[in-house]
Amino acid sequence: MSSKSLISFVIYGFLLLSLCNSLKDNAVDGTRAYFHALKISSLPSSDVCKESSKDLNEGSSSLKLVHKFGPCNPHRTSAAPASSFTEILRRDKLRVDSIIQARRSMNLTSSAEHVKRSVPFYNLPAPGVDYIVNVEIGTPKKEVPLIFDTGSSVIWTQCKPCKACYPKVPVFDPTKSTSFKALPCSSTQCQLLRHGCSSSKCTYKTTYVDNSSSAGIYATETISFNHLRYDFKNILIGCSDQVSGDSDGQSGIMGLNRSPVSFSSQTANIYNNLFSYCIPSNPGSTGHLTFGGKVSNDVKFSPISKTSPSSDYDIKMTGISVGGRRLLIDASAFKIDSIIDSGTVFTRLPPKAYSTLRSLFREMMKGFPLSDQDIFLDTCYDFSNYSTVAIPSISVFFKDGVEMDIDVSGIMFPVGSKVYCLGFAELDDEVSIFGASQQKTHTVVFDGVKERIGFAPGGCD
Ligand SMILES: *[C@@H]1O[C@H](CO)[C@@H](O)[C@H](O)[C@H]1NC(C)=O
Ligand SMILES: *[C@@H]1O[C@H](CO)[C@@H](O)[C@H](O)[C@H]1NC(C)=O
Ligand SMILES: *[C@@H]1O[C@H](CO)[C@@H](O)[C@H](O)[C@H]1NC(C)=O
Repeated sequence: MSSKSLISFVIYGFLLLSLCNSLKDNAVDGTRAYFHALKISSLPSSDVCKESSKDLNEGSSSLKLVHKFGPCNPHRTSAAPASSFTEILRRDKLRVDSIIQARRSMNLTSSAEHVKRSVPFYNLPAPGVDYIVNVEIGTPKKEVPLIFDTGSSVIWTQCKPCKACYPKVPVFDPTKSTSFKALPCSSTQCQLLRHGCSSSKCTYKTTYVDNSSSAGIYATETISFNHLRYDFKNILIGCSDQVSGDSDGQSGIMGLNRSPVSFSSQTANIYNNLFSYCIPSNPGSTGHLTFGGKVSNDVKFSPISKTSPSSDYDIKMTGISVGGRRLLIDASAFKIDSIIDSGTVFTRLPPKAYSTLRSLFREMMKGFPLSDQDIFLDTCYDFSNYSTVAIPSISVFFKDGVEMDIDVSGIMFPVGSKVYCLGFAELDDEVSIFGASQQKTHTVVFDGVKERIGFAPGGCD
């Protein structure tokens, strides 16, 4: 063999080998991983911030999404309080109760009356999700931490002079901002909002199911992102001098639902009605909330339901698989579309769908000791004796063939030292809610022009 042909033989062999390898990888990809490795640790204590290494999308504007108690939040006031898990569960239940209550009052929870209704506002308790964005308000700019919330409308912050404000977090002072303009009662905008009036200023008050509330005035103000070249002028915001309830790290909420007063709707013409986010898998990493930009080919879209209330994002869930096995759930279990909500922590499923998921999951986990936690997550395991556990994969399917392979951080949720629970729960209704935990590490794209929501894996972390 000449040295030339030897070289080409070597190169050919190398190519063949790489081809085989890539075929093998594809095969694994095609059938998907049936199990994920879950590393068991005591509750995460992250003191170093790990920035997501994903490049930001060209032509877009991004805010970092950070955990309010995590090391990536420059304004964090404290580490997560010991009670924070109980608190997350409490708020998550309240939020789901109020979503269901609102939908019931509109007759939207059972298929018989599932018709399109226009519901511009309904009040939700502050999201249980602890991810925030830091946004600049006013002239000069003042940075305030806001929870991002696809389930609510108004963007609001607490404001001076406070009758009652959250302690330890920034308070916006409108008297120091030259761009702040209170919304007059006589304005068309105020009349459209159909809220109250006080000393000719347009006022609002929202009371949540847990009796917490936020009250103040509507105003228009300039909003900026830290590295943006220009500011958004005259954005309608809520300026709240009276808040009650618990905050431990946020000054307010950035509402991103489909109502015309949400931040995403108000900036839709600038960003071509497109925004996306990625929630990181753990509090020590950053994610993003991004407006505009290009949509990657990896994103698989499902249409926003025509029957959803005008302000919500509903998409049609069509099935679930566990460990690669599609659950045998009657299609009627998914008759009502799913609400996709960044403010609900755990995905809720109708009784039949949940019990089928739970039995197969428990079946596949039967070697591990179940642990009764007396919380609404009812499939918990004590992994004290393990350092790594193989967890069955879970995929959720949506209309138009979208398959979303849930990240391991969205399958098992740590609730105590080495105790983990399945991050899904039953909802005593026909509605399902696709929650934030199950969206972790995926890019979730809201495309208002084409009325569709898309998912792509590997968006952050
Ligand atoms: C909801 O349905 C119930 C029973 O079908 C009916 O009595 C009630 O008036 C409906 N409510 C609304 C707001 O349409
Ligand atoms: C809220 O307040 C009302 C009236 O004061 C009371 O009946 C209700 O039980 C309270 N709800 C909660 C969750 O505290
Ligand atoms: C861990 O292993 C020990 C020894 O085998 C056993 O006694 C204990 O019950 C196990 N704990 C759990 C939570 O499985």
